[in-house]
Amino acid sequence: MAVQNRSGSLRAQRSNLLFLVLAAAFANAEPANIQVCAACHGEDGAGVGYDYVPIIAGTPAAHLEEAPYAYKDGARKCVGVPVMCDAVAPLSDDDIVEMAEYYAAMPRLSTDEEFDRQLAAVGEIIHNDLCAQCHVLPTDEKVEDALGIPLNGQKGAYLRLALGAYLTGDRETLVPIMSDKLRLLDQDKIDALVHYYASWDPD
Ligand code: HEC
Ligand code: HEC
Repeated sequence: MAVQNRSGSLRAQRSNLLFLVLAAAFANAEPANIQVCAACHGEDGAGVGYDYVPIIAGTPAAHLEEAPYAYKDGARKCVGVPVMCDAVAPLSDDDIVEMAEYYAAMPRLSTDEEFDRQLAAVGEIIHNDLCAQCHVLPTDEKVEDALGIPLNGQKGAYLRLALGAYLTGDRETLVPIMSDKLRLLDQDKIDALVHYYASWDPD
């Protein structure tokens, strides 16, 4: 009996240990509450199937960290999908850092959205003129230090939603210079910019 008990408890200890090792490995691979985010942003951070859910994979962590705070304190109101604000509300500072680093480490893929080459060329000129000082390519070596979030390869529907929200005041522009530039845009220029951002190919 005694032997059986001992081997039984040894087995239990070993499986506890195995559980701890697995749990630790899992925690490193994936933040514990990642499913809360993956429900919309996807396991790959691309939010496939949801037009208004921005691509967050491969965006520098510093930028990904800023956004949840902006949703938490109301500087960004959730325009289309209020659930995003509900999702970030309970996150601790550590959670936010963990999620940001997790998604930042993933590759930034192209959206595969269709675009018009001529419009994209017009958009590139507008971008270089008004936006490039702060918004650089996701592959630019200075992307982490750039003031703005990379826009190339972002979903068109989301870009339109975000630009519309700045223009109506549903999102505060954190840098006044950007507000000045956005005031120079009309619907045609926004279209051209969206085609330009869709034309980006990471390869
Ligand atoms: C119900 C769907 C949904 C869930 C769940 C969700 N998000 Fe979002 N997320 C969105 C939408 C939609 C937006 C854009 C909202 C807007 O600005 O109006 C967004 C925006 C963001 C942005 C800003 C990206 C940018 O380019 O500015 C970040 C970062 C982000 N989410 C991270 C997260 C994290 C981390 C979680 C998990 C805690 C999460 N989201 C959960 C839908 C969701
Ligand atoms: C002086 C720097 C600066 C300039 C110039 C600028 N932006 Fe921004 N932009 C930012 C910063 C900083 C953010 C993120 C913080 C915020 O939401 O205000 C941002 C955010 C954005 C976003 C939201 C991105 C996301 O993923 O949520 C869009 C879209 C955008 N900018 C478009 C533009 C366009 C288009 C232009 C040119 C017409 C432009 N910006 C010019 C600094 C700038």
